[in-house]
Amino acid sequence: MTKNIFISCDHGGFYLKEQIVDYLLKKSFKIIDLGTKDPSSVDYPDYSNVLVDKIKNNLDSMGILLCGTGIGMSISANRHPHIRAALCTDEDMARLSRQHNDANVLVIGGRTTSLNSAKKIIDAFLSTEFEKGRHTKRLKKIS
Ligand code: RB5
Repeated sequence: MTKNIFISCDHGGFYLKEQIVDYLLKKSFKIIDLGTKDPSSVDYPDYSNVLVDKIKNNLDSMGILLCGTGIGMSISANRHPHIRAALCTDEDMARLSRQHNDANVLVIGGRTTSLNSAKKIIDAFLSTEFEKGRHTKRLKKIS
């Protein structure tokens, strides 16, 4: 509950992002909306880069990125060594991305994910801790 959650999207994720911001505000999370602020066309790397920079200065914070499929945002965000971005299509993936991969950014496809499914994915992601142990060794091999 105390962590900052940054959220950012392109036009493909805009409508779902707006609904997710409402959902998390109602749950009393500290959510910082980095845009985009309307559905006009933008370039997704610009919006992943903004979020990646915020997390670099707040390493215990988490992020949520959305584009049409989530794929472009995943590719873009994972270029940065401090980011472990997980594109999740269901709550099991979201839970495992935290338990095994210590994912710090959740990526959701705005055109491929219903609001109901996104809520379950987000709840699982934000309520699950990293298991450490054998997974720490594996993450060190990535970095
Ligand atoms: C935008 O049309 C779309 O390409 C973008 O949202 C995303 O899906 C890219 O991976």
